[in-house]
Amino acid sequence: MKTPIVDFVRAYARSNTLRLHMPGHKGVLRLGMESYDITEIKGADSLFEANGIIAESEANASSLFGSGATFYSTEGSSLCIRGMLCLALLEAKKRGETPLILAGRNAHKTFLSACGMLGLDVKWIYPSRGESYLSCSINAEKLEAMLIGMDMKPTALYVTSPDYLGQRCDLAALAEVCHRHGILLLVDNAHGAYLHFLPEPIHPMDLGADMCCDSAHKTLPVLTGGAYLHLSAALAETFRGQVRGALSMFGSTSPSYLILVSLDQCNRYLAEGYREQLAGYIAKLENFKAELAAAGYHLIGNEPLKITIDSKAYGYYGDELAELLRNGGIECEFSDGDYTVMMLTPDLGDEALEKIRKCLKAIPQRSAICETAPRTCMLEAALSVRDAMLAARERISLDLAVGRILAAANVGCPPAVPIAVCGERLTEEVINAMRYYGIDEVDVVIE
Ligand SMILES: Cc1ncc(COP(=O)(O)O)c(C=O)c1O
Repeated sequence: MKTPIVDFVRAYARSNTLRLHMPGHKGVLRLGMESYDITEIKGADSLFEANGIIAESEANASSLFGSGATFYSTEGSSLCIRGMLCLALLEAKKRGETPLILAGRNAHKTFLSACGMLGLDVKWIYPSRGESYLSCSINAEKLEAMLIGMDMKPTALYVTSPDYLGQRCDLAALAEVCHRHGILLLVDNAHGAYLHFLPEPIHPMDLGADMCCDSAHKTLPVLTGGAYLHLSAALAETFRGQVRGALSMFGSTSPSYLILVSLDQCNRYLAEGYREQLAGYIAKLENFKAELAAAGYHLIGNEPLKITIDSKAYGYYGDELAELLRNGGIECEFSDGDYTVMMLTPDLGDEALEKIRKCLKAIPQRSAICETAPRTCMLEAALSVRDAMLAARERISLDLAVGRILAAANVGCPPAVPIAVCGERLTEEVINAMRYYGIDEVDVVIE
């Protein structure tokens, strides 16, 4: 596998050229990586008008993922989500449809802000009873029933799979329903770039998605910010010449070459032995998860590289368990009152499993905590997401918020999944849910 961006940047770094261009560090080493941090000099190509080394590297990524086309982002999946929704909007306009997106309620807050910026309306699919607000299992029957009941046909279905807790939807079944109804399937696969490289690939593009984003940086050895936007072959043809424009509407004109270099280098990593390494590690992880289950831990989710502990079933709050792991020298990806989430990769090897094993096995099981998390609330939208986002607002205590219209999805990251959506009128129930998740102030619209 060729690495044209890595080769160019390395050669430039070695050339001892006097850098009379940006960035201001001029390649002088203070942190140590400055010599690779270049700008769009001759030969370096340009991310949103790529036709040189960046285009070549993206084509390599596309062939590795088996997509119709793959585009790099140095601003995470967040940029890809905005680009993807912009393309959905173009598709709606082309079809003469009023742009409407049907979306799983556990969407990341970037989805919301993108809908607000683009003026897209959203119809929500809510989680089933008993599911965390971080998950939203949508199956083919639920989708079919939803579509039949809608007065207006949506342009696209937008789902988050895998979600923060490591739950995946049956994307193949959803793709079949979407395509039969003539709607696009868009997937937030921020947590699942590696899924294409499993012995049985289950990446959204393998299962019929039309577009998806992957945060390469979340599960592959890529610097923070590196991400992919993948398009199916059909959509790559439909949007030929339009994708970079859609991304550039929201992206910085100074993409990081450090991130581009690491995306390029990752192609070689994926091409040279990753599949085998991943298969071996997943087999070990399955055994490891079985061992934890036998020790009394209740694990949820079906994403191979995540370990999600339903901590209360073991007698601890999620944050409490995360703190015990922290004391043992292990920092988890995420925890809340209910769950503790760890993200692993094959590079961590056996020592990491041994460290987790030792730490978790030293924690005595207690009787289960029965207090359940609040369920996801269905709320009335008093304003569109866009109108609420752009409205005059004030920040008030949650105690005073009943009946007010939410102006901003003020959720922390992680997990950045809004409990209520901007434009919705707040009820006692949702305020209690916000309190449960540690929110004590909200931005509301001044009416
Ligand atoms: C489900 C999900 N989607 C999208 C994003 C945004 O990804 P990025 O941080 O790569 O912009 C995140 C980030 O945590 C996420 O968890």
